[in-house]
Amino acid sequence: MKIFVTGGAGYIGSHVVKLLGQYGHNVLVYDNLSTGHEWAVLSGTFVRGDLSDRRLLTDTLNDYRPDAVMHFAASIQVEESTREPLMYYRNNVVNSINLLDAITDLGIGYFIYSSTAATYGVPGTSPVDENAPLKPINPYGMTKVMVEKVLQDTAAARGLKYIALRYFNVAGADPDCEIGQAYSRATHLITRALRTAQGAQDRLSVFGTDYPTRDGTCVRDYIHVADLSAAHLLALMYLRQTGESDIMNCGYGHGFSVLDVVNVAKTVTGVDFPVEFAGRRPGDPPELVADSTKLKRLTGWSPLHDDLPFIVETAWKWEQRLSRKAGASDR
Ligand code: UFG
Repeated sequence: MKIFVTGGAGYIGSHVVKLLGQYGHNVLVYDNLSTGHEWAVLSGTFVRGDLSDRRLLTDTLNDYRPDAVMHFAASIQVEESTREPLMYYRNNVVNSINLLDAITDLGIGYFIYSSTAATYGVPGTSPVDENAPLKPINPYGMTKVMVEKVLQDTAAARGLKYIALRYFNVAGADPDCEIGQAYSRATHLITRALRTAQGAQDRLSVFGTDYPTRDGTCVRDYIHVADLSAAHLLALMYLRQTGESDIMNCGYGHGFSVLDVVNVAKTVTGVDFPVEFAGRRPGDPPELVADSTKLKRLTGWSPLHDDLPFIVETAWKWEQRLSRKAGASDR
């Protein structure tokens, strides 16, 4: 298939692009490189472009004529979204509407969307399934709820077929160590812990120790980026076969606390890095764990890397490679 991938130079998008290439798909990556890197695009053609540039977007789509679109490009940091809500609504909602405008005008029928567990807010059950109420507690989560709604209405009006994948906490790196998280200001726990182990920051702050969880720190469902990538291919195949739009959670179904992750990171790296206990970070729900029964049942998804030490090991190998790479300062 010909697949147009927005955000394909970023962390998750680049892993999916690599996998699409391995499965023989023809890929065009459209990315503004605000957080991504052209070197991370291991398959297909690269076009540097912004989704707000409607002329370039339409011209690129017109020339390429894809069969399907995968839309990763977005701002993704919960805490930043509480400080910069307008940037989040513009990047995530307005730009997604630009993209949908362009593709529905061209009659492109299949769409895979990167949604998030942040749509649930503070779920009343754990694990949480797709029928839980959507009550986001930060602007980031709200942008994703809004685009899911836009997709639903666009599907009804224009015949678009879509799958929205609600990601839980994506982590780890390509097991071949060719790509990984490469954003210098990444705020994700595992990346921060490993960069502390490397000495790139003095200490790791644990945000909040008074949550209603086992050890008082937040609990998350960490999913390896390679398993998440496989879910994208399976979702696209399912969509082509059935034409049924849907929304599916992507996670393993069990959670680890911040302190669990810190301990695994110390074991994997062999570094007893300094940790400080800090106040809560705005926008953080206490616990997010996925019920991914639907994804497994409908697409046959069967994760291969449900193993936190393996996730951290792949991320650690990647962080070490990245710090050796020339120009590591601008990662
Ligand atoms: N944390 C720390 N110290 C850090 C970084 C993070 O204690 O230096 C804590 C956070 O406060 C949170 C947990 O580690 O409790 C996980 O934080 P991350 O930043 O790694 O991830 P989030 O859960 O905030 O968000 C991620 C994605 C979102 C997605 C969400 C879904 O960034 O896009 O997972 O579960 F919506």
